[in-house]
Amino acid sequence: TSKKKSSYEIVTLTTWLLKQEQRGDIDGEMTIVLASISTACKQIASLVQRAPISDLTGVQGAVNVQGEDQKKLDVVSNEVFSNCLKSSGRTGVIASEEEDVPVAVEESYSGNYIVVFDPLDGSSNIDAAVSTGSIFGIYSPNDECLADISDDATLDSVEQRCVVSVCQPGNNLLAAGYCMYSSSVIFVLTIGTGVYVFTLDPMYGEFVLTQEKVQIPKAGKIYAFNEGNYAMWDDKLKKYMDSLKEPGDSGKPYSARYIGSLVGDFHRTLLYGGIYGYPRDKKSKNGKLRLLYECAPMSFIVEQAGGKGSDGHQRILDIVPTEIHQRVPLFIGSVEEVEKVEKFLA
Ligand code: AHG
Ligand code: MN
Ligand code: MN
Ligand code: MN
Repeated sequence: TSKKKSSYEIVTLTTWLLKQEQRGDIDGEMTIVLASISTACKQIASLVQRAPISDLTGVQGAVNVQGEDQKKLDVVSNEVFSNCLKSSGRTGVIASEEEDVPVAVEESYSGNYIVVFDPLDGSSNIDAAVSTGSIFGIYSPNDECLADISDDATLDSVEQRCVVSVCQPGNNLLAAGYCMYSSSVIFVLTIGTGVYVFTLDPMYGEFVLTQEKVQIPKAGKIYAFNEGNYAMWDDKLKKYMDSLKEPGDSGKPYSARYIGSLVGDFHRTLLYGGIYGYPRDKKSKNGKLRLLYECAPMSFIVEQAGGKGSDGHQRILDIVPTEIHQRVPLFIGSVEEVEKVEKFLA
């Protein structure tokens, strides 16, 4: 007789991962990589929440490859993420917003998977305790890079091979997710079978399943753009933005919500509907957001929830990166809202 499911059965991320492994949707190695990522996120959550107490607010003093003043927590969360992945023994190469080039995990600890991540997204919010997050994506290995790292290949050829192995289109993603450090600590994950939401229970430090197979509303009247850049946008985009402010047939204009953290603005868009946009402008020819570890993972998630991720003309997931920190314009959210801006930009 089948065991009666106890109505009090709590599904944690760990038990959920094991169930997906039993179903054959992920393999044992991926389970370990995802578990190590969730551990990194728990550690970052606690560092973020105690930042003012442990003197982890403010800048580190260095400028990263993006040309940004690194926050102390940018650096620390990068180390936490990298260390968790390396000690998982199942990761071969990591590419981070905060690393100039991809890092090959040393031979004895090297595993198969390639993990790209933004260890702390929206880090300009840290000092004001506004929501931040971490974003990640997992690719399968590209033998090109992992084959003979041990041999005496010169660094630049190993590095070059690693760049090749990491520069894969979002269509190749096996898993993607983010952790949002906000009023709740929320871990959102897809392994290609829908979008699952876990909430950290501080009582016992576990992520508990709180939503499954999330579907983003087909439309939504909330837009998240940094309108401070309006003057630098091209005319078609200005016309789109102006159209959101007319009452329209519903008699009500759109609402603006923008917190300066992609993870926070995206999570609200995923649950309430609407659109987040970071367009190109006269100053940033390709926009600001990075394809590999911001736009592609978020686009995989939004498509799994029935939404759309576009650069204004094409699917983000179709774009093949040519360099690690490549930037692309991003319009992401409800299908009807993304299609509306694509029409204006056509
Ligand atoms: P990061 O903190 O990882 O560098 O990313 C910041 C990004 C994104 O999170 C946010 O939506 C956007 O930058 C905000 O940019 P503006 O301050 O230019 O609006
Ligand atoms: Mn940054
Ligand atoms: Mn970011
Ligand atoms: Mn970041």
